[in-house]
Amino acid sequence: MKSLIVLVGMMGCGKTTAGALLSEKLGFDFIDVDNEIEKSENMTIPNIFNEYGEQYFRKIEKIKTLSFADSRNLVLSLGGGGFEDEETRKILKKNGIVIYLKATPQCLFERIKSAIHRPLLHKNFSVETIAFILKKRSANYEKAHHTIDTCGKTPEEVAEKILRILK
Ligand code: S3P
Repeated sequence: MKSLIVLVGMMGCGKTTAGALLSEKLGFDFIDVDNEIEKSENMTIPNIFNEYGEQYFRKIEKIKTLSFADSRNLVLSLGGGGFEDEETRKILKKNGIVIYLKATPQCLFERIKSAIHRPLLHKNFSVETIAFILKKRSANYEKAHHTIDTCGKTPEEVAEKILRILK
């Protein structure tokens, strides 16, 4: 089995919580790319967006994401837009097993309504905005090796489902 597991999907799909649980079950390290960006930039993601704009964030996001592309025994959780970049997709698919944590806009809305700090959502937070972003990204998310429907599932159940796929 390849030992780099990459989780992709929209904000609120559970990449971070399910990913951390999965890494414990596998005995792997866990990296959340957003956290790594915040540490190395010494700024929150909303502040990076506000100060330098989305294009700058995407540049940093790509560099940070690909810095883990040769890792072993790692569960890597990407930011929601991290799988939009073609080169990133190609490299991660070649080096790892990419899993798309899928969820409906309604389900994502319910999960993230208490955490609307996300810069892409804070101005216009609604099921419709989430649906709009998801529609633009679906085709790329679907390029993952595996897709798991996470609606109505706990992070524990999602992690268990991923484990079953990996075995
Ligand atoms: C983004 C998702 C966020 C973060 C940034 C942009 C996106 O990550 O990278 O706010 O474009 O969907 P999460 O998916 O971890 O919330």
